[in-house]
Amino acid sequence: MSKALAREVDKRRTFGIISHPDAGKTTLTEKLLLYGGAIQMAGSVKSRKAARHATSDWMAMEQERGISVTSSVMKFEYKGHEVNLLDTPGHQDFSEDTYRVLTAVDSGLLVIDSAKGVEAQTLKLMDVCRLRNTPIVTFINKLDRDGLDPLDVMADIEEHLKIECAPLTWPIGMGQEFKGTWNIYKNELHLFSAVHEGKTQEGLVFNDVNDPRLEEYLGEYAAQLRDELELLEGAGNPFDKERYLKGEQTPVFFGSAINNFGVQEMLDAFVDLAPAPKSRPTTTREVSPYETDFSGVVFKIQANMDKNHRDRIAFMRICSGKFTRGMKVKHHRLGKDFTIANATIFMAQDRTGVEEAYAGDIIGVHNHGTIKIGDTFTTKEELKFIGIPNFSPEHFRRVQLKDPMKRKQLQKGLEQLAEEGAVQLFRPIANSDYILGAVGILQFDVIVHRLKEEYSVNALYEPCMITTARWISSEDEKVLADFKDYYRSDLAIDAEGCLAYLAPNPWKLESAQERYSKVVFSTTREIR
Ligand code: G4P
Repeated sequence: MSKALAREVDKRRTFGIISHPDAGKTTLTEKLLLYGGAIQMAGSVKSRKAARHATSDWMAMEQERGISVTSSVMKFEYKGHEVNLLDTPGHQDFSEDTYRVLTAVDSGLLVIDSAKGVEAQTLKLMDVCRLRNTPIVTFINKLDRDGLDPLDVMADIEEHLKIECAPLTWPIGMGQEFKGTWNIYKNELHLFSAVHEGKTQEGLVFNDVNDPRLEEYLGEYAAQLRDELELLEGAGNPFDKERYLKGEQTPVFFGSAINNFGVQEMLDAFVDLAPAPKSRPTTTREVSPYETDFSGVVFKIQANMDKNHRDRIAFMRICSGKFTRGMKVKHHRLGKDFTIANATIFMAQDRTGVEEAYAGDIIGVHNHGTIKIGDTFTTKEELKFIGIPNFSPEHFRRVQLKDPMKRKQLQKGLEQLAEEGAVQLFRPIANSDYILGAVGILQFDVIVHRLKEEYSVNALYEPCMITTARWISSEDEKVLADFKDYYRSDLAIDAEGCLAYLAPNPWKLESAQERYSKVVFSTTREIR
């Protein structure tokens, strides 16, 4: 292991933000990028979001696709660290990609609206983080507004997200009466000001919380702060870095993203605590990021602007070694050499050519459909990374073709679009239907539009009676054969030839699971 390589790996922090729409992800991202010097002006990320969501018309969104590619990965430097922030699209863009991005990060930042507590999308995203015990830092936002009691927000997180909370800062008052935060470990008071415009806030250091000077700054809130800290000391959890790294405990920060309050304190702790790139499993062994031989895995494919060329960008996470421009690697699924001549590295605003990159970095590789999600590239040893799965869709549609003569084009279009990973294609065993599954319903509109634009196929949807899907396997072949017989009308084959049970309702799924205890019903499936 070379020292220079180890230094590069140790500097890197690759993470994603987990939040429900409107909790403040975009606002916080913008502040992080400001601190990282990646943008100069507040408002640039926000205006991109506005442009993207101003219309749900896919035509307009398609024109914005260049923008969404650019903002998929935001890289910036902060205090000697190379930070890669991977975007986890919200509400409208929500798709399976969002889940899969979380399999490519080393840690997460959970943003909670202090007035709302844990919300639906947060729950779903945290489920994915739990698959890999991803370490999570929590930022409780919008303290400048009246919200829930901070103890109740933490109790809500503990109960619903099954992760213990350890506050590192504590809020003093809220809403109109928000006075600031107390740093529990540094005994430092940060006074809230809504007008400092992002300037670094110097904390006031006290020897302890009983210092009478606190009254000068906080008035009656000083006594409340002391009471709450005493309560936390008695009943709360002290921060334990090991438990954070195992994903069992989350350090909690309070603040207000829009006022840039508490953000830098959180970012400082984040780069300090969050793990550098970790080893990643393959079918044969764990690959350490410090290994000198290059390896990388593709976790996301995005169609690019030029529809005539079926141009795609594959997002590859580097897992070990050093990437240099023009590097020759082996594409294992195809068993072919591949020269990565035109890789893109994602800066916050622009895409620039990459000269070199290391484990934890994401590079964009242009291709015309040869690269699929889950593909592994290495310079030497033949490897196949695992842990980049398909997720069970939550919405389903039956595709109906307007012109029956176009059946072949339809099949080709659906197969190719499904390869990009935002929808899944299922073919029922009992008939010749095409069933699409997605985790976000916007994807269905996108597919119909792209079928027309890129494959000249006019298609529409019929609703279908499917509520969820499970991939099916069993070690007992006889049981499996029996199961297939019994549930034939609800079974389908996915795009990679795997058997799936498309449940008409949750009760039928439950009864199938009870009836066939030797059959495994999986909500995720490893991509082959
Ligand atoms: P998202 O990406 O998670 O969807 O959230 P986003 O940052 O867009 O924030 C959602 C709304 O919450 C925005 O208001 C934003 O200004 C507001 N917000 C974010 N952080 C704070 C905070 O610390 N305090 C308060 N009071 N509000 C905050 P909006 O009205 O939807 O949009 P805009 O008109 O402000 O752009």
